[in-house]
Amino acid sequence: MPTVTLSSTAPATTTTDALVIALAPGKGKKPEVVSPGFTTAQRTRLADALAAVGATGKSGDLARIPGGSGIKASLVVAVGTGTDEPTAESTMRAVGSAVRSLAGTKRVAICLPVADDEAMLSIALGALLAAYDFTDFRGKSGKDRPEPVRAITVLLESAPSAAQKRAIKDIVIVADGVILARDLVNTPPSALHPVELAAAATDSVAGLPVKVKVWDVPALKRAGCGGILAVGMGSAHPPRLVRMDYAPKGATAHLALVGKGITFDTGGISIKPAANMDEMKADMGGAAAVIGAVQTIARLGLPIRVTGWVPTAENMPSGTAQRPGDVITMFDGTTVEVLNTDAEGRLVLADALGMAVAEKPDLIIDAATLTGAQRIALGARIAGVMGNTDEAREQVCSAAGNAGEAVWPMPLPADLRAALDSPVADIANIGDRLGGMLSAGIFLKEFIPADQAWVHMDIAGPAYNEKAPYGYTPKGGTGAAVRTFVQVAAEMAEGSA
Ligand code: BES
Ligand code: MN
Ligand code: ZN
Repeated sequence: MPTVTLSSTAPATTTTDALVIALAPGKGKKPEVVSPGFTTAQRTRLADALAAVGATGKSGDLARIPGGSGIKASLVVAVGTGTDEPTAESTMRAVGSAVRSLAGTKRVAICLPVADDEAMLSIALGALLAAYDFTDFRGKSGKDRPEPVRAITVLLESAPSAAQKRAIKDIVIVADGVILARDLVNTPPSALHPVELAAAATDSVAGLPVKVKVWDVPALKRAGCGGILAVGMGSAHPPRLVRMDYAPKGATAHLALVGKGITFDTGGISIKPAANMDEMKADMGGAAAVIGAVQTIARLGLPIRVTGWVPTAENMPSGTAQRPGDVITMFDGTTVEVLNTDAEGRLVLADALGMAVAEKPDLIIDAATLTGAQRIALGARIAGVMGNTDEAREQVCSAAGNAGEAVWPMPLPADLRAALDSPVADIANIGDRLGGMLSAGIFLKEFIPADQAWVHMDIAGPAYNEKAPYGYTPKGGTGAAVRTFVQVAAEMAEGSA
């Protein structure tokens, strides 16, 4: 993680390797430098030089010119801001593209218009999340890769206040949580079996006031977690359930977070096709988000109780694997006919949701890479959000918006429940193919009492970016849902204070 410093030095005299400035389409032919702190002469010279290399100032545009003639930085990078009012997300993206393009550069100073503290934090967070590379498993190819930016300076027009410095410390903690989730998702499935994921959860809160409990196979049997056991029994690597409890003194509100932790999803006996199966290492993206969020919430010291649940298993086909047609009994006593072993996420979640429900928290939110149908419906970047009350669903959608994560509300139509009827058990694990994201949500709802507020986030697309990097989002694990979880916790803490 790079360092972030606030400074009120003038952009031209700031000592740095690269200076990032903002450029908008001007009124005439030339683009216009909209960063504060430059003299008129500096502005004109920069705009001329940038126009000469074809910079337009349009949103998404990136241009580079050398520093010199009064600009101390050796390189100037101009990000196009377009003409629209900047939003937190557009700022994060613009800064993210610039910082990503500057990999190999050590020190970067960013001079953008900073309307308020929120803008300052968007600049810092965009830069922190963009300065990322996952090299843990690279050998010689890691050596000649440009290193992510190491030191970020955010330039302000006046000396930073103590409150601004504190806010920056907190945003670094949030970025750490997102990056922890990305690292877990990017870790190959050969190095992250359920036991290792449970260990990572335990390690992530070492030294923090979080109590961690891990259920091994005998404990899962005693507890009656038939879903986690059934999904895990085909693998040589046994399943686990993790509970992370952060209960600060005096907290009144209680939030439960549940994350799907399938360390690899082959589909089991209902095996998946070979193409892109490697991406199923990301099937623990929900679990990674819970771990990242609990760590962040505890480090921030938010005054709210948060209990994180991570049911984790490896879904493999083998002589000990569950079969289509098996009937299993979940933690809450519900029997499930497993018609498709590839609909495994809902089985491990059912047990964890049942255990979360038993504690009667004010709100339960689960995040899961649950269905391919989510990606068909909303694409790779927008999570589907469902819930058993409009109010709870709106609470999570609104927090996601405040945190800058893309989500969209989705319904849980009651008529889809009939297709989940089983001739032999209480419910089957697959229903209608059409509306597959919603059917999965309806299945989960079966394990939630009517008076328990619950929200389900299907992050199948957003958890993993299989395409080119964009803005502050790298290829691979994205850390999706961490910021939403932290934001919900912060808003609930504020509401109950
Ligand atoms: N982990 C997958 C969902 C998934 C697919 C996530 C692609 C990310 C990218 C999940 O376990 C799964 O296999 N779901 C099935 C459910 C079906 C059998 C009802 C699916 O979506 O095809
Ligand atoms: Mn599956
Ligand atoms: Zn899965």
